[in-house]
Amino acid sequence: IYYGAFVHSVSLADLEVCPKGALGVDEAGVIKFVERDAADLEKIKAKHGGEWKEASVVRVDDGFFFPGFIDTHTHAPQHPNTGLFGKTTLLDWLETYTFPLESSFSDLQKAQRIYSNFVSRTLSHGTTTCAYYATNHVPATNLLADICLKRGQRALVGRVCMNTMSPEYYRDASVDAAVAASQESIDYIRSIDPAGDIVKPIITPRFAPSCTADCLSALGNLAQQTDAHVQTHVSENTSEIALVQDLFPTSKSYTDVYDTANLLTPKTILAHAVHLSPAERQTIKARGAKISHCPASNTALTSGCCPVRELLNAGLTVGLGTDVSGGFSPSILEEVRQAIWVSRFVAMQSPSAAATDNAAKLSTAEALYLATRGGAAVVGLEDRVGGFEVGKDFDAQMIRLGSAPEGGEQNGTFELAGGPVDVFGWETLEEKVEKWVYSGDDRNCAAVWVKGRLVHRTGRYEV
Ligand code: GUN
Ligand code: FE
Repeated sequence: IYYGAFVHSVSLADLEVCPKGALGVDEAGVIKFVERDAADLEKIKAKHGGEWKEASVVRVDDGFFFPGFIDTHTHAPQHPNTGLFGKTTLLDWLETYTFPLESSFSDLQKAQRIYSNFVSRTLSHGTTTCAYYATNHVPATNLLADICLKRGQRALVGRVCMNTMSPEYYRDASVDAAVAASQESIDYIRSIDPAGDIVKPIITPRFAPSCTADCLSALGNLAQQTDAHVQTHVSENTSEIALVQDLFPTSKSYTDVYDTANLLTPKTILAHAVHLSPAERQTIKARGAKISHCPASNTALTSGCCPVRELLNAGLTVGLGTDVSGGFSPSILEEVRQAIWVSRFVAMQSPSAAATDNAAKLSTAEALYLATRGGAAVVGLEDRVGGFEVGKDFDAQMIRLGSAPEGGEQNGTFELAGGPVDVFGWETLEEKVEKWVYSGDDRNCAAVWVKGRLVHRTGRYEV
């Protein structure tokens, strides 16, 4: 029984905040009851009876339980480059920073070190499900899946395909080689987790410029044959869009290149989608493909301010992605802030409104929805994770809001010259959530569970 406050999204606009709750979770990690008026724990135990009378209790008293975050797009091998982008934009950033690093994952020991460190990082920031790009090396890609399975993080793991416009030292020799390597990785990942409970494969054409039309079509066929997920990048940067138009002169748009190759399916994740036309949005909606919004990366590489409200209004399913190392943080909480920030830049740039376009702004509740329920729908797990309901898996984080661990704090107050001043503890739970969103980090993420299994905890707290 997870006992104390809990907070989760119930719709895009609405966050439910329950100050005294109790979540009953069975041995399989499935939520069996959700109590919202749980001041008396003994009464709750008695009400449910049976084994619940003996259930162990995990309490949170200075914080709340929150659903695990879903990172819908990131690049595990780029972890060592976090924060390195200078003044580059997408295409020169790839050449300067990314391809040299990714190509070194032929070294399995290096892959082991970096991948296990990155999975620890994302878990410690409360990410319970992550869609990972790996590299074009099958052994290292499969190793990433092994690590996620062992550590208990839900993951989509993709072997990257690129048969053109990439350096000689880092590219697929042929279309057949790209397809065979993808198939090999799909087969391996399905063999280690046949039910796909924790890890699943995802077909990963890097982006249109690094794949020929026949390669994209072959991967579209593979997606159909294997019923696998697909991930790629779309419409991230204006030079990239111009390049795609040059490379695929008969296509109607960047989106159309993927549509022609049958790569837009309900299991497809499209990262960025910054500069889509209304017609492209319609195509993506019609195919049921999903969007990963990566605001930190879009600002770091000056790709653009994605108009998320317009994507939502077009009926698209949107989640958040850290896009390390285009993005500079492994934290989805950071992306929540960045998504809110970018929506404010969109609002301030609005040509139509006299002052700002308030409709463009994301609220805290909306950004948290994208980080949980939205992301769950992007990775096809909306029935299993993203919120606290009976029948869903318990994928959650325990958020603690204590003061700084050292210093002059006593009982939540500081002795100041003018007398005691309340620092923490006076807020409503709603206000605590706002304060966490804007000033929280991994130190507040005391423990993390996937399917009821404890997959991370900090030393500071007992759980
Ligand atoms: N487009 C193609 N490859 C990449 C990548 O590694 N990161 C980002 N942000 N965009 C890409
Ligand atoms: Fe990316």
